[in-house]
Amino acid sequence: MSKLWGGRFTKPTDKLVEEFTASIPFDQKLAVEDIYGSLAHVKMLGACGIIPVEDAEQIGAGLRELLAEVKAGQLQFSIQNEDVHMNIEQHLLERIGPVGGKLHTGRSRNDQVALDMHMYLRRETVHIVGLLADLLAVLLAQGDQYLHVIIPGYTHLQRAQPVLLSHHLLAYVGMFSRDAERFQDSLKRIDLLPLGAGALAGTTFPIDRQMVADELGFSRIYENSMDAVSDRDFILEFLAASSILMMHLSRFCEELVLWSSTEFGFVELDDAYSTGSSIMPQKKNPDVAELIRGKTGRVYGDLIGLLTVLKSLPLAYNKDLQEDKEGMFDTVTTVKGSLALFTGMIETLQVKEDNIKRAVSHDFSNATDLADYLVRKGLPFRQAHEVIGKLVLTCIERGIYLADLSLAEYREHSTLFGEDLFEFLDLRHVVDARDVLGGTATVQVRQALDRALERLPQLQAWVEQQLQRLPI
Ligand code: ARG
Repeated sequence: MSKLWGGRFTKPTDKLVEEFTASIPFDQKLAVEDIYGSLAHVKMLGACGIIPVEDAEQIGAGLRELLAEVKAGQLQFSIQNEDVHMNIEQHLLERIGPVGGKLHTGRSRNDQVALDMHMYLRRETVHIVGLLADLLAVLLAQGDQYLHVIIPGYTHLQRAQPVLLSHHLLAYVGMFSRDAERFQDSLKRIDLLPLGAGALAGTTFPIDRQMVADELGFSRIYENSMDAVSDRDFILEFLAASSILMMHLSRFCEELVLWSSTEFGFVELDDAYSTGSSIMPQKKNPDVAELIRGKTGRVYGDLIGLLTVLKSLPLAYNKDLQEDKEGMFDTVTTVKGSLALFTGMIETLQVKEDNIKRAVSHDFSNATDLADYLVRKGLPFRQAHEVIGKLVLTCIERGIYLADLSLAEYREHSTLFGEDLFEFLDLRHVVDARDVLGGTATVQVRQALDRALERLPQLQAWVEQQLQRLPI
């Protein structure tokens, strides 16, 4: 079969070259976007009198037939036609004859492929924000349910100060909310029409780019044709936002792996979100959490891969740019899968309150509060720190905790101690004393949950609006 670009060639393409340069094995994922783009383009060609309206209509009808077949998974693609754009054009020609050859007037595959990528990523970005909204809803529901639970808070993975479990969950609400914002913001730069740039310099035909933009729901149009065909910043931003999101997921996953171990015993993952061992009958493994943690690496790889492809590329289109697709597809699949599974895992998580209570009442995480107690009685903080440090050491030597010492023993270290010190050791007191904006006191956490719950419908409404606005 001769190539769509075969005119100036005297020999067929080497088989290996054909295989090596083809993108159809992976870019067929863009078939729907490609056809929608062509439908808008051909409508504009007819409306602007660049091709006869009857021809535009005939091409439109042919494209719609192809669209239905693509959606039904019936259209066959062939490697001889290199990529999704030429495969679809070839099908069109076979179906409606030479008039189909008018579709590519005033257009190049360079602006065509950029258009497909913009349309694809625009929708996927909205879907990902939707999945983030689902996750936030689940985190807030768990935060609400477990507001009374105090867990150890850590620094250096050593017990530091107790915090509410809900406070810990809200830290992730902060991270995932920023992730959602990042994706929402990046949409501004995805929502940009490259079509009309031609191969690189624009086109000699009197096209109407605004009409195509309106037809395809683009808010803005690239103002420079060379930028339009060579820009992949919008994919980089997507991969960067995805990398940060996966990093957040991986941190939470790491905590779930730790928390579900016998050593911690703070949570139990639902059976539906765990797997067993083929040899050790007792095992229940946190595979999903581990795999999300692991998949973070491939998303970073996709980001670094594309950054490297783009480095030093001269303007405008270069075939290197074909390498932009697989990493992007891979990241979309990985991020969507990870978010959906992670949300299910959090939703079904069992919190083992007894174990947590036992853990948190057998440590020195109330030591800071005892130092603060002495400060309130007038001792400079550094001296107070020293006194409590000594008391902790005494306890460690005797195998007891701060609450087990008597007032008399306390007073041997400082006469500032009074009977009221024991209140300050109480965990609920320790937690609720951190009554500052952003602190772990129950009232603060309740307010933080309420603020986040109040913001959530805005995010959900944004997703709905975008889905309604986008033609595909
Ligand atoms: N398959 C190509 C890509 O993904 C489409 C653009 C090809 N343009 C070209 N001049 N070879 O980048």
